[in-house]
This record gives sequence, C-alpha cells and structure tokens, in this order.
Amino acid sequence: MSGSALHAQRDGWWQDAVIYQVYPRSFADGDGDGVGDFAGLLDRLPYIASLGVDGIWMTPFQPSPQVDQGYDVSDYCAVDPLFGTMDQFDQLLESAHALGLRIFLDVVPNHCSSEHPLFQAAVAAGPGSPERAMFHFAAGSDDGAPPNNWQSVFGGTAWSRVNPGSETDREWYLHLFSPEQPDWNWRNPAVGNYFEGVLRFWFGKGVDGLRIDVAHALFKADGLPDAPTADPVVDGLRSNPKVSDQEEVHEVYRRWRRVADSYSPGRVLVGEVNLAPDRAARYTRPDEMHQAFAFAFVKLGWDAAAWAAVGTELEAARKEHGAPPTWALENHDISRSVTRFGGGDRGFLRARAGLVAILGLPGGAYIYQGQELSLPDVDVPVHARVDPMWARGGVSRDGARVPLPWTTAPENAYGFSPPGAAEPWLPQPAFWGSRSVEAHRGDPHSTLHLVTGALRLRTELLAEGIFAPDDACSWHVREDGLLLCERGDQILLAVAMGDGPCPLPDGNVLLSSSPLTPEEFLPPDTAVWIRRRPPLSGLDFYDAE
Ligand code: GLC
Repeated sequence: MSGSALHAQRDGWWQDAVIYQVYPRSFADGDGDGVGDFAGLLDRLPYIASLGVDGIWMTPFQPSPQVDQGYDVSDYCAVDPLFGTMDQFDQLLESAHALGLRIFLDVVPNHCSSEHPLFQAAVAAGPGSPERAMFHFAAGSDDGAPPNNWQSVFGGTAWSRVNPGSETDREWYLHLFSPEQPDWNWRNPAVGNYFEGVLRFWFGKGVDGLRIDVAHALFKADGLPDAPTADPVVDGLRSNPKVSDQEEVHEVYRRWRRVADSYSPGRVLVGEVNLAPDRAARYTRPDEMHQAFAFAFVKLGWDAAAWAAVGTELEAARKEHGAPPTWALENHDISRSVTRFGGGDRGFLRARAGLVAILGLPGGAYIYQGQELSLPDVDVPVHARVDPMWARGGVSRDGARVPLPWTTAPENAYGFSPPGAAEPWLPQPAFWGSRSVEAHRGDPHSTLHLVTGALRLRTELLAEGIFAPDDACSWHVREDGLLLCERGDQILLAVAMGDGPCPLPDGNVLLSSSPLTPEEFLPPDTAVWIRRRPPLSGLDFYDAE
C-alpha cells in the first residue's frame, strides 16, 4: 500500500505526512519565459509522486507585482498569468489528487501588495476613512519622524509616508516587510471576514491545506507603541515583542480551524510560526492549527549539543500542548543545508545525514525542492540578485532559489525550460548538471535514491506501528559527538556530528545516510535509523545477574 493510500484510511493523515515544497518559479518552465509555471509543474508531477511524498506545498502564485517573488499578493483568489490560468490550476489539483498527492497553498494574511484594490482604495479615501482602517495608517511626529520605532524585517523603518510631501495627508502606513507590502489591520473585523472568504474560496476548490505565512505577526500591540529597542530586527520579527505573538492572534486560528473542519475531509493548517518552541507550540493547541514548523530547528548549524537542546525543548512543548513539531531543514528563505553545514564534501554528507535524521523523527516533515538533489546555495552574481532583502538589508535569499537542474547537459537551462526559451530568471552555475535529476537517477548512491528509500521505509515502519506519530523523543549527546534520539521504545536515531568515527550503538541498522565501513562504526557526518533489540525478558535479566 502506498503512503498516501495508507494515510487516506486514517484520521489525521497529516500527522506524519511528508510534504515537498514547490517554489513554482524555479521548479519547471513550461512556456519558455524563463520562469517556472503550472505547465512545467503539471508535466513533472509524476517526478514528485515518485519520491514517495504525501503532498506539495506551493508558494504563492496569485497575481502579484512580484516585488517579494509573490509574497506581495494583489488578488488572493486568482492566478498570476506568469504562472498560468485558473483552469490549469484546477487541472493541477485534479492530477495531483489522481497521483495521491495533496496540495497545500500559501496564504499571506499579514500583508498584501500595495497594488491590492483595498489598499489602493485606502490611499485614495484619505485619513480617517473606513478604507484606511483596513490597514495601519497613522500620523507621524511633527518633526517628520514615523509613528513609532518599528523596523522592517527587510531593513530600515517599517513605515512609509502614503503621500510624501502632502500637507493635508500626513499619514504613514505600516509594512513589516518592504514598502510594497502594507500590513493588514487585524483589529478590524472586516479583515477577518475578508480572509475567511479567501480560505473558503480555495478550500471549496478542493485544496487540502494552507501554509500560513508569518502566522505569529498578524496582530500588533494595541496603540502601536514603540518597541523596547530600536535596534534593527535581528531574528525575523522575534526581537520586536510589539508585533509578534500577541495573544489575540490565537482567535484567528481558532476561527480558521472551525472553517477547515467544516469541510469533508477536513482541511489542514500549518503555520510559519517563527518563535521559540514553547511559544510556537501554543499555535497547535487542539482547536488551532494542526501543525507549525519547528523553527528553532530550521536554522541550526552542525552542532550536536544544539540539536539535542532544541530537540529537548521541542519535546517538552509537545508534551505540554500535544502536537509533534513539523520538521524542516530547508525552505526558500534560508541557506541550503549543504552550504549551511559547511559546504564541500562534508557539507554534502551532513545535509544527507540531517535529512535522514529529520525523516526519522515523529511528526510531519518538509523537503524543499532540490534538497533531494543535495543542491548547495549558488553565489548569484550581484547584478542578477532580485530578492528585496538584498536591496534593503544586504542579505540575499536568491542563492537558495535558483531554477532546478533536470538534465546533465546545459541546453535549455539544464532541462528547466523548453527549447528556444528565454534565460532562466536566476542564472544557474556551471556545475548544475552534475546535481541534476538525471545525474542522480543514474547513481544508485545518490541523494535522490537515499530520499526515496528513506520515504519507502518510513511508510513501512508507520504501517507496522514501529514508527508512531506520537512517539516520545529523548535526546542525548555522547562524548564522541554522537547525537542520539531515542524514538519511542523501538527506534534509535544516531548522527555522528563529531570529527571521528563513532562506535555504533547496539541494534539493527535499518537505514544509513552513507555506507558503514567497517560495519561497527558510524563515519563522521552519517546518520542511521537503528531498530533496538527487544528488552531482556525477566528470565534473561535473572540470568544476567
Ligand atoms: C515569509 C516568506 C518569505 C517572505 C516573507 C514576507 O517569511 O516565507 O519568503 O519574504 O514571508 O512575506
């Protein structure tokens, strides 16, 4: 029985689902304009299904000026012609379902595009109007300073004058990201009603779930007070307690959960909740979201003590609030794990080991497109960088977003585009072909084969009850740098994070991220799933004494 068929029979299929993140503009280009699209994705859905994942999360494809590569939405219930048409979307949904793949969309409720008609209406209507009350408009000080000291995640003040130079309209509007992304005012009930309509539109089409962008920041502290420090934001929004994790936001997810549960089958909510484990876990209480990414884990380096410490915190939060974390090592916003874990051969081995480790943990997991190919970050030439974070904050996320290589030969952007296409929207490096799907297919030891094998085994272990979604995890670090996670009472996950080989713990090795030679040692930068030997019976115990 396939993983999806197995899941379909059980309530809460999402609990241990593995979802493949598709960043559509870099997945596959069907129409030859150098930007990935629905036609390209439709054509390669069978590739995704062949990995053995349960579904796809698609980052935004709705109409957008593309200032933040689609996270600046100007119409929440339509398709940007850059990616295709609504008919093609419907076809995509149908084909994915036929292949046993669920579809999750990104919903961006914190902000929209400055070209959204409701923001345009707010600008036109002027100070004090109900139109402006949909967003955060406020007057600055007489000396020309913005309404408060909040900083944008992308750098600089989080406020822009709506009508610079006007004597009659002296208001500023809030944008936690770029000025082209005004923040919605969630204290206005009209905003909540508007988004309920957005949810119902996509759920009504049969979309299986939503990933909620910047889920912890929708509500801002009442009265928009200054943050305790005017320091630049150092860790997403976390360092400004006035825009992050306000208690009122939980009511939004209780309402969305009721909406999601009113469909049959119920729809699923997964949040981008970039908070410490104990705070993030509160978003997955039984009447709120189903899942939240384990953000504390997403950005970790190759450090056994840090993995064990964060793993232990996440486990404590799970025990208190009930939901296992949702694991990921990569997404479109962060450095790829091959690079983050040191680059070169060791970075390559570590990224494979890290992926094997998270796929062995209880709870859902996400794989970012290209992670199954061990893609590293690309050093995109400065003139080609388009991430708004680069222009405003000097940090570029483009290196993790380069169009995928499908073929070893460089023609047609390594198979990303059809013949005769425009150049890909971000340049690909000369080594790209060696990391292509074609290259991986031809190598039995490739990461692609490792991932498909791991997913097959995961499905079997779940079916046999050896993996249970609610297994407890106990984390330890051995002196030789071996990270251990005891999962339930049958499985031990071990990752050699030090510089030397580590003696293998007792048990049967079910999966290894690299060959074990000699067999009783785990080479550095290797992860294994071990089936522990059954506990001693009473008689054995007696004999042993
Ligand atoms: C989320 C997205 C990121 C985007 C930001 C603003 O963090 O993942 O890509 O820039 O929100 O929408």
